[in-house]
Amino acid sequence: MAKKLIVANWKMNPDSLKKAEELFESILSFKSYDALLNLVICPPFEYLEPLIKHPKNKKKVVKFGAQDVFYENKGAYTGEISPKMLKDLKVEYVIVGHSERRKFLNESDAIINKKVLAALKEGLKVILCVGENSSVRGKGKKVVENYIRSQLEKDLKGLTNKLMKLKANNLIIAYEPIWAIGTGNNDTPKDAIEVISFIKEQVFGNLSFVPKMLYGGSVNSKNINEFLQNNAIDGALVGNASVDKKEFSKLVENLKSVKNETKKPKK
Ligand code: PGA
Repeated sequence: MAKKLIVANWKMNPDSLKKAEELFESILSFKSYDALLNLVICPPFEYLEPLIKHPKNKKKVVKFGAQDVFYENKGAYTGEISPKMLKDLKVEYVIVGHSERRKFLNESDAIINKKVLAALKEGLKVILCVGENSSVRGKGKKVVENYIRSQLEKDLKGLTNKLMKLKANNLIIAYEPIWAIGTGNNDTPKDAIEVISFIKEQVFGNLSFVPKMLYGGSVNSKNINEFLQNNAIDGALVGNASVDKKEFSKLVENLKSVKNETKKPKK
């Protein structure tokens, strides 16, 4: 089985550095999993440096990601953090275009597009989030596919084969249906795989690269294997379950038993 990618999106949690260190230490204590999966944790900005430099983080097996980034590298942009600053801190990944930022901060596709290009140019691995809301989903498969295609076209505008050749494998797409995020109401593996396969084949089919695809939205220790046992899905973006020590440890433990299956999921 190709290595799966598990990205832990801590969002605005936990509420103190002490608790963040405890959570990180519990992840460091997971029994060997690195032959099977790559683990990336995305804590709030202020915990990145202390966790990266944590005395127990010697083996550097766990990778780090930020939850957002700005599109300029320096200047008068109060409150922003640049791609260069993240690189300087040895942060490898960045989540861009999460639906919570699209919704709460009105982050537009035009801004997300600038962030994707700037972060890729700086050599960061970009996890670009796309996904439809429940009203789009209610209109059926074709409408969902058109919606996702249009989101990707806007968010990746100007992304050239040249840039991708230089930064091969640095673009990762997370398909996260908005109605499934934080609700406990995950998509069915069958429907998620259909959208993910559509993206791989129909949106990227003619290009010289196909990005890794993650599923996100109420992934937990019980359903992780249903999603990741199919080769179409390269990994998962995990929110709530990633900030619960026991649940996250179970999730990684359960994932170890994933078999390499190419067959279609049960209807
Ligand atoms: P969730 O969050 O796992 O809590 O649904 C996923 C995400 O927001 O990336």
